[in-house]
Amino acid sequence: MRVDGVLRVPGDKSISHRALMLGALGDGVSCVRGVLQSLDLQSTAFVLRALGAGVPDLSNQTVIRGVGLRGLLAPSVDLDCGNSGTTARLMTGIVAGSPLAARFTGDASLSRRPMKRVSRPLTEMGARVEFEAGDGLPMTVHGGGLRGLTWHMETASAQVKSAILLAGLVGDVPVEVHESAPTRDHTERMFAGRGVDVRVDAGVVTLVPAARLDAADQLVPADPSSAAFFASLAAIADSGALALDDVCVNATRAGAFQVLRRMGASVRFENVRTEGGEDVARVVVAPSALRGTVIEGSEVPSLVDELPVLACVAACADGETRVSGAGELRVKESDRIKAIVENLRAVGADAEELADGFVVRGTGRRPLAGRVTTHGDHRIAMAFGVLGAIPGSQVTVDDPACAAVSFPTFWKELSRVVG
Ligand code: S3P
Repeated sequence: MRVDGVLRVPGDKSISHRALMLGALGDGVSCVRGVLQSLDLQSTAFVLRALGAGVPDLSNQTVIRGVGLRGLLAPSVDLDCGNSGTTARLMTGIVAGSPLAARFTGDASLSRRPMKRVSRPLTEMGARVEFEAGDGLPMTVHGGGLRGLTWHMETASAQVKSAILLAGLVGDVPVEVHESAPTRDHTERMFAGRGVDVRVDAGVVTLVPAARLDAADQLVPADPSSAAFFASLAAIADSGALALDDVCVNATRAGAFQVLRRMGASVRFENVRTEGGEDVARVVVAPSALRGTVIEGSEVPSLVDELPVLACVAACADGETRVSGAGELRVKESDRIKAIVENLRAVGADAEELADGFVVRGTGRRPLAGRVTTHGDHRIAMAFGVLGAIPGSQVTVDDPACAAVSFPTFWKELSRVVG
């Protein structure tokens, strides 16, 4: 397979969610340029509107009329977060900081995902959270009247860290979050860019209460998690190269590029610069002989969403790839450890589940055939779309449309760059 072309994948999902939320909480008008226009972001826009913020239909230049840190209103409808864990968890923090009550709902996948990881610290801060069944949505949050918090994270999760920081910001109380491992730091960067005093030192994030949040325009770089599908495609190709423009290469997000390099692919960062408060580069990837690798827990937060596609690359490498310390994959949009292993086996590759990861025994680039069950998980669909691009492969994906959760143009781009 030959790949060729220059691609600008859509805006970063994590930064887009935060840009809409902070725009809504800002004092005045903020313009978000290049926001991701996908189903998950529509969920965040819907929830913010239900809370009274002026968020229009998403477009390349989305202009938000912020209501200020204390300006959200009680919603008259359920806050339906769709498939989006980031919407549910970060908005829970925002509602916990506000003197109002809201009921959060989501689709079947989101309703199975754990929410106690956010309700526990927020309850410590003084919010009241009622579950209707178990640990997931639907859940009603009664916010306001918070006190400060020092919290030691049990799992490495940027969503939990961000929920606590947002609750502290909106609730006007100090918080201190001790991270178990570094996770994506977009919330901290964006707070700092909007006049909020947030300090990061030796794994501890400290928020000083702020009277207001400045309105600020935000440029959203291309999503490294979406770029990783095309970086992986280029790595398993036989010839050519792909150039991925404007990719966020923030070190807390760039683990997949390091892993592809370690496996033998040629991965170059060109034109590295700072844009919109983030490190951004053109990422150029070309194929080479690929070998298996080891990915351990310390590296997982920097590539947690990229593990499905890295597993597919591992199937095309020579030798074993072993991933451990990745138990979080079991509580993503699907049980991704199970979904990765079952689907690799379904298409004829050799893989095995571990409690907290998986092993793939790669057999080099060769055509694969079989039916992939996505469980509605966008990243499983796209990862196996990449694997299915190998010439002679007959991989069918049961629900290709679910890519619209994070990357609506994925299939079109895939057919454009594969020669
Ligand atoms: C995200 C954090 C990660 C990631 C998710 C987006 C974020 O989840 O998997 O897609 O925007 O903060 P966890 O924080 O649960 O690891």
